[in-house]
Amino acid sequence: MSYKSIKQIFEHNEQWIEEQLNADSLYFVKLHKRQIPKYLFISCSDSRISPEAIMFSEPGDVFIHRNIANVIPVNDLNVLSVINYAVVHIKVKHIVVCGHYGCGGVKTAISTTDMGILNPWLGYIRDVYRLHKKELNAIKSIDEKTNRLVELNVLEQCINLVKIKDVQKALLEKRIRIHGWVFDMQTGKLVNLKFNTKKVAGEIIDIYNIL
Ligand code: CO
Repeated sequence: MSYKSIKQIFEHNEQWIEEQLNADSLYFVKLHKRQIPKYLFISCSDSRISPEAIMFSEPGDVFIHRNIANVIPVNDLNVLSVINYAVVHIKVKHIVVCGHYGCGGVKTAISTTDMGILNPWLGYIRDVYRLHKKELNAIKSIDEKTNRLVELNVLEQCINLVKIKDVQKALLEKRIRIHGWVFDMQTGKLVNLKFNTKKVAGEIIDIYNIL
């Protein structure tokens, strides 16, 4: 990590263009043409998360949506629009919800501090806390509690995906899978929470079915 001035950013941009063209003279022609990502990646806005680096992917491979603590409120027009475009138009094959251990948004939600305009958003995470209050209150360490809520929040947001019509339709057509992951910054490891799309959708579809 290093701080770059605006001037340095533009200088680096020129250098990067040169590097790409040296390696492949058609790089930007190909980049301009290509946008058929197979993955929709929904993660936290945290500056330390680099989806391309984590997934070892190239520009054009991953469609990305980010917000504080990777929340998917089913009335949020921003995330719903991204999901609609990815699922209905691009027809991605996978939706990944990726949280990260030590998430500041999740930690703040646990603290019950008044965060002003952030309160409604943190409320979505507090809802997940309420659902798992017994398990979470049994954890004494704040860091461990945060990390467990990070996992539970990812799984709950995977469930929220199942509540969305575009996703329900894609699930019915068997052309999409939902994945819940957590990125561990201390080791670089990607942890798969093994969200069972078929099982969970089967369990809750009678309540949320809107097709
Ligand atoms: Co975060």
